[in-house]
Parts: sequence; C-alpha cells; structure tokens
Amino acid sequence: MKNLVLYASRKGNTKEIAETIATELHSEAIDLKKVDIERINLGDVDNIFLGSGIYAGFLNGKVKKFLKSDNLKEAAGKSEKNIIFFVTWAGNPGSVEHAIEKSYDYMPEEGINIYTDHFRAYGAVFGMFKKGHPTAEEKQQASEWVREVLEKIEHPEEEMSQG
Ligand SMILES: Cc1cc2nc3c(=O)[nH]c(=O)nc-3n(C[C@H](O)[C@H](O)[C@H](O)COP(=O)(O)O)c2cc1C
Repeated sequence: MKNLVLYASRKGNTKEIAETIATELHSEAIDLKKVDIERINLGDVDNIFLGSGIYAGFLNGKVKKFLKSDNLKEAAGKSEKNIIFFVTWAGNPGSVEHAIEKSYDYMPEEGINIYTDHFRAYGAVFGMFKKGHPTAEEKQQASEWVREVLEKIEHPEEEMSQG
C-alpha cells in the first residue's frame, strides 16, 4: 500500500507531527502551502495521512482546499483513497470533532474512506498555552498510532476475527 503524508501548519506544530509520521512511513511530509494542490501525484496512493491545526473549530484552509480539489476528486474516482486525519489543537472541547465532521461537507462524495480514528496532539499557541507541545512523548505516540493504523488497514480480517 502506498502512503502519502500531507499537512498544513501555521506555526509548525502540525509540521512536527507530520514529519514524525513521515519518518515512520519512510516517506516525506508534503507541506500543502508549498505545492500546487492540483498537481500532487495521488494516482497510486492508497492512504493519505492528512494533518492540520484546528482554528476556531475548523481545519486549516489549505487542507480544505485539498479536500475540495479536482485532483482528489479525479484520483478518488479512479481508485479509493483512505483519508486518515491527524491534528494538533489546544484542547478546546469538541473543536477537533467539529472540524473533522465539517470537512465531510466539502470532500468528494465517492471514492473516499475516512479512517474512523484520528491522532491528536496538543500544539502550543503563541508560546503561552500548551507550551512545549507537541512533546517527544506525543511524537512517540504518533509513531505508534501510525503502526496501528497500517496494521488495521492492511489486515482488517484479523480485527474481525478477534471479535
Ligand atoms: C486563531 C487561533 C484559533 C484556534 N482555535 C482553536 C480551536 O478552535 N480549538 C483548539 O483546540 N485549538 C485552537 N487553536 C490552537 C491551535 O489549533 C494549535 O496551536 C495548533 O497546534 C496549531 O497548529 P499549527 O501550528 O500546525 O497550525 C487556535 C489557535 C489560534 C492561533
């Protein structure tokens, strides 16, 4: 299975987690701010790890732009894509759920599977709140989570047989 890590990050918090995940996947983390979203090669990609900070209960605008892109729509029309979210946030209750749920409104209707689970770590805000996050421990958790996700995606039958 081919994995891709995409992220958008204003202050670098989500970038840190994206790079951790990419290292775990032996791939690179692509910054959505630095590429032409319509030209990202999605053709043979199965799993898209998609990272964002949370802003007033929404995902980063670049992530929204990617989810709305013709590129994703066309690629998902040809072969199914799993989207697996990871976010950084400051702990505002319900805001991550809200952001992810709202993203369903603008992603392609066909060919997309949203992975049921997501990863979240805290991210510092203006160097004041949640200072020092994401921590080394949170990055370690991100690596472990990636391994679990791949295991579940690649061997769903084992999940079921365990009951
Ligand atoms: C203007 C603004 C709005 C924010 N809104 C939320 C929010 O709704 N919920 C939350 O938990 N954190 C919120 N945060 C905190 C960010 O999600 C957090 O700092 C995150 O790590 C930023 O990621 P980034 O640096 O990768 O963009 C907000 C931060 C800012 C500056």
